[in-house]
Amino acid sequence: MKGKRKGTITSKWLKTNALLSHSEIRQYIPMTQRLTSYNLSSMLAKYEMVYIKPERGTYGNGVIRAEVLKQGVNKYQYQIEMKKRTFKDYNSFFQSLKKVTKKRSYLVQMGIHLLKYQKRRFDVRVMVQLNPKVVWETTGIIGRVAHPGKIVTNYHSGGQLVNIEKLLSSHLSLNEQKSVIGKMSRLGVTIAKQLRQKYPDYRQVGVDVGLDVTMKPWIIEVNTNPDPYIFKKLADKSVFRKVMRYRRLKGPIRILKKKK
Ligand SMILES: Nc1ncnc2c1ncn2[C@@H]1O[C@H](COP(=O)(O)OP(=O)(O)O)[C@@H](O)[C@H]1O
Ligand SMILES: [Mg+2]
Repeated sequence: MKGKRKGTITSKWLKTNALLSHSEIRQYIPMTQRLTSYNLSSMLAKYEMVYIKPERGTYGNGVIRAEVLKQGVNKYQYQIEMKKRTFKDYNSFFQSLKKVTKKRSYLVQMGIHLLKYQKRRFDVRVMVQLNPKVVWETTGIIGRVAHPGKIVTNYHSGGQLVNIEKLLSSHLSLNEQKSVIGKMSRLGVTIAKQLRQKYPDYRQVGVDVGLDVTMKPWIIEVNTNPDPYIFKKLADKSVFRKVMRYRRLKGPIRILKKKK
């Protein structure tokens, strides 16, 4: 089936569109378009920094960060893995990008200036699962800190898994941390419910949330086959145990509609 891989929705485009139709979630989704020369140039003019990523990608593979430079002769730059390239004009920049993306389908998304921890960018993975009462519950939240030279935070791209309170502690007071964590946790549940309207056949989602300096949570990506093992890294072992326990739950996949 198009966009699906054994109960997994692989297309970031289809997932984004499923979320955009929800009026509350909408505001947390960075502007996303299909990659074309026109779309990239207009998004760079508007946002100055964007992420370009495969429509169906994982582990941060193939993800590119592109930006307009304010100083020097070279005006455009992109980075993939550890490699940065700069260009004088838009055409040579785009032609070079095309060689990287080849014929594959790519998206361009407004870039979030992610918070940093020890000069490294980080984002947050929010795990949301159906609990034994068949109600969506946020079961785990963990921070992912990018490898120093990289633009992605994925564990499989050299990222590091760190307790979220530790990452937020240099930015926020204890009460503020609680409030931001609570907000991400509720947003995760809202997303899971919304996605399920369109795709009823799964019982867990892992949301990649990016925080900017204003602490606004941005939805970078929603995974329908999230890795549970990342939570093994937390000192609090009860989180991992719960994630695994809920993962093993079977039962009715479609929630029975409550009678009015
Ligand atoms: N719009 C964006 N702004 C800032 N960082 C981003 C953006 N999109 C992706 N990233 C970074 O790249 C990583 C991988 O991108 P993601 O969309 O989650 O694809 P993948 O399926 O490969 O994990 C994210 O976890 C984040 O660190
Ligand atoms: Mg991701």
